[in-house]
Amino acid sequence: MSAPREPRRGDVAIRHLTKTYRLNGAPLPVLKDINLDIRPGETLAIVGASGSGKTTLLRVLAGLEDADAGEVRIDGKTVRGVGAERAVIFQEPRLLPWLSVLDNVGFGLETRGLSRNEARSRAKHYVELVGLQQFEHAYPRQLSGGMAQRVGIARALAVQPEILLLDEPLGALDAMTKISMQQELARIWRDEDVTTVLVTHDLEEAIYLADRILILPREKGGEPRLIEIDLSRPRDRSAPEFVRHREELLRVFGLH
Ligand SMILES: Nc1ncnc2c1ncn2[C@@H]1O[C@H](COP(=O)(O)OP(=O)(O)O)[C@@H](O)[C@H]1O
Ligand SMILES: [Mg+2]
Repeated sequence: MSAPREPRRGDVAIRHLTKTYRLNGAPLPVLKDINLDIRPGETLAIVGASGSGKTTLLRVLAGLEDADAGEVRIDGKTVRGVGAERAVIFQEPRLLPWLSVLDNVGFGLETRGLSRNEARSRAKHYVELVGLQQFEHAYPRQLSGGMAQRVGIARALAVQPEILLLDEPLGALDAMTKISMQQELARIWRDEDVTTVLVTHDLEEAIYLADRILILPREKGGEPRLIEIDLSRPRDRSAPEFVRHREELLRVFGLH
């Protein structure tokens, strides 16, 4: 008889997830019976029209918001509320202005049981990973938007979460910074074995970074769709298969 299989770390199972807000007393259904398995280590992008519930879904996964029905299981266990196995990155990095880059990244590591030295060397490692070693003693006000967001990413990775949740992390950056940050994220995710859920309204970003893309329906009652992006990495935005995926997504959104 074989032993029951242990789920691998960072395995997310979403079951019958439903969320309805109320707007002026009337129910506003946002998520309707979402079912999805996110594989350990994969990058899942969530796209959809504005208001389709991307942020709501991410917040429920993060435990910042309760669902009305259904559940989220991580490594087989139902989760409620926030947990140390998940880290969230928002559009604004929300750094502490009075702490240096290094201290922002290391913030909270000591309360997680690391010694002062361990916390410092881990913070240094992640500051280096995002390419900011020359700025480790700089303060948030001395950083560009792209650099500040890198600090936010380093801080989230430093706690070594099983699951990284990002809500339009590059949405506030200019077009060129955004492309270089996408390349950087692709490199970082190749090295860090972390399950990643990335909300984005940028279809090209989704194709560039994701293993699979979940498309939330525009009309309530529509079915979410999943698209597999089976392209080798690093990805080439001008490759015919890449362009094909982009056209497919534009068609789904009725834009092509
Ligand atoms: N706290 C809230 N109370 C009421 N309605 C909300 C709340 N948060 C979001 N909504 C509504 O839920 C819908 C989905 O919002 P959201 O998840 O932010 O969409 P997206 O991130 O895809 O743009 C929108 O119609 C929004 O107005
Ligand atoms: Mg949103």
